[in-house]
Amino acid sequence: MCGIVGAVAQRPVSEILLEGLHRLEYRGYDSAGIAVINAEKKIERVRAVGRVAALAEKLNEAPVVGFVGISHTRWATHGEPAERNAHPHLSQQRVAVVHNGIIENHQLLRENLQQKGYQFTSDTDTEVVVHLIDSYLEQSLSLVDAVRKTVAQLEGAYALGVISTEEPDTLIAVRQGSPLVVGLGLGETFIGSDVQAMLRVTRQFVYLENGDFCVLTCEQRCIYDKDFQLVERPVKESTVGSFSSDLGQYSHYMHKEIFEQPIAIQATLEGRLEAHKVKPCIRGEGVMETLAEVESVQIVACGTSYHAGLIAAYWMEELTNIPCRVEVASEYRYRRCAPHKNMLFVTLSQSGETADTLAALEKVKQEKSILASLSICNVDESSLVRESDFSLLTAAGPEIGVASTKAFTTQLVVLQLLIALLLQAKGEAESMVTQIVEDLKKLPIIIESILEKDSQIKQMAEQFIDKNNALFLGRGDQYPVAMEGALKLKEISYIHAEAYPAGELKHGPLALVDGEMPIIAVAPNTHLIEKLKSNLEEVRARGGVLYLFADQAAEIQADEQVHIINMPNIPDLIAPIVYTVPLQLLSYYTAVFKGTDVDKPRNLAKSVTVE
Ligand code: F6R
Repeated sequence: MCGIVGAVAQRPVSEILLEGLHRLEYRGYDSAGIAVINAEKKIERVRAVGRVAALAEKLNEAPVVGFVGISHTRWATHGEPAERNAHPHLSQQRVAVVHNGIIENHQLLRENLQQKGYQFTSDTDTEVVVHLIDSYLEQSLSLVDAVRKTVAQLEGAYALGVISTEEPDTLIAVRQGSPLVVGLGLGETFIGSDVQAMLRVTRQFVYLENGDFCVLTCEQRCIYDKDFQLVERPVKESTVGSFSSDLGQYSHYMHKEIFEQPIAIQATLEGRLEAHKVKPCIRGEGVMETLAEVESVQIVACGTSYHAGLIAAYWMEELTNIPCRVEVASEYRYRRCAPHKNMLFVTLSQSGETADTLAALEKVKQEKSILASLSICNVDESSLVRESDFSLLTAAGPEIGVASTKAFTTQLVVLQLLIALLLQAKGEAESMVTQIVEDLKKLPIIIESILEKDSQIKQMAEQFIDKNNALFLGRGDQYPVAMEGALKLKEISYIHAEAYPAGELKHGPLALVDGEMPIIAVAPNTHLIEKLKSNLEEVRARGGVLYLFADQAAEIQADEQVHIINMPNIPDLIAPIVYTVPLQLLSYYTAVFKGTDVDKPRNLAKSVTVE
């Protein structure tokens, strides 16, 4: 999703901006651009469709030099990926703007501006912002006032970076809904959509709040709140490790990240387990007292994170007897929800910047309908973490591949820690907590053993290359694992895939079964195995071809219709985490064989900061 980088410094900023854009590439984008104010106080702009490397090439041929500048990676929302739609957008060669988010009332604003004689050169919603600012400059307003008057008219979520020849030493930044961080250097200031963009130049950051308006020069950094009162926002030192873009032995980040799962899980558990209990590792004051009062849990998330929530609900109700509901954030945020007593509101997010998840949290905070909010997140300084009462971090390390892998399995790990802490806070079931602790300790080694099946799974994937559809089956807490398997396959290999709880087959999807559509099932040896085996027989009897990840103890026989990857005997509680891994590899290799852009699948973005 769109990324912003800006800088005001006492040295040329193009290199800094370009490096920042490279660091935001993981978010997904289709074009990139940069604008600086040069020594003659003129705006110079370069834009390119495709990768940041294409922009770099253009800049190499025709460098732009200036001490103040803004840059952008665009993920198309309004208007196709094309150079004329790429940011920065200009008005009258006097203002340049980069924007992340969506201006909902752009149509009306565009019509008004057209009546005033402004010519639009793009299909974007952003272009209204730059012309609107210019229209106020035309009335002799200062740059600050022109931007203020403009944002007062904007509806929607946005982060903006603005420069103008009228005040060539100033960079203006505004945050309303979309993430934006200010980076503080010595006599220089930066803005970025996240801290990663600026880690090369600083580790000191100010996290802007909604409504914040910043006027930045080399000497001054003034931040005004939504009422335009000057405010002091805390300066935080980032602890985020500067991620390496080194793929090492791997061809894709997704493959590397699948293989990083044992280490990521180890890091997530580090210092959090004792022999018979989990250490209080949730951040926030009075957390254990609050957990003791919890009588219901609502989990809200999107995509893969939502699937982690679905699995956790099975565990939560089974182990704690606390009612647990799960919903996708884009639905939850817009409906009237019946309040539940003493509800812990849990948001799950790899990035901590997902717009719908943040909006759902905002909604329950405004309604004051919850006991407390807890975010489970992989990014410490993210918006979600900062907006929640409590946070429980995963330590997966940066995930660069768009398809989430290690972030998902580490989310499941911390969800088990949360369940253990709920049990501990309520003084219940020490034996259950001991079981969780013991099983979690085994997890990294078990996952290592699954990763050894890499080449076997690769062979299986070869049979998926020419398929158009696939059906994933699971039962109990393996049903969301099947959902996650289907999501991974469709997002990176573009094969249509659906997941069903195996018991539902005969209520409709059995009609689809033929020799063409592969049916993938996850079959650990749990209390549901015999039920699942009957469901698989129903498929076989109708000529379906099965691809199974099955516990040997389940004694399922392989034949020309039944292809099996044997799975080790593992504790039930961690089975969903373990069975996710071969499904990730199956999708990965299918995509590799199909030749898709595995790490940056079409139309998708890593961090979904618009609704
Ligand atoms: C799929 C995937 C997405 C994300 C979703 C939520 O592989 O990565 O479905 O899970 O966009 O993102 P986060 O977890 O950052 O809130």
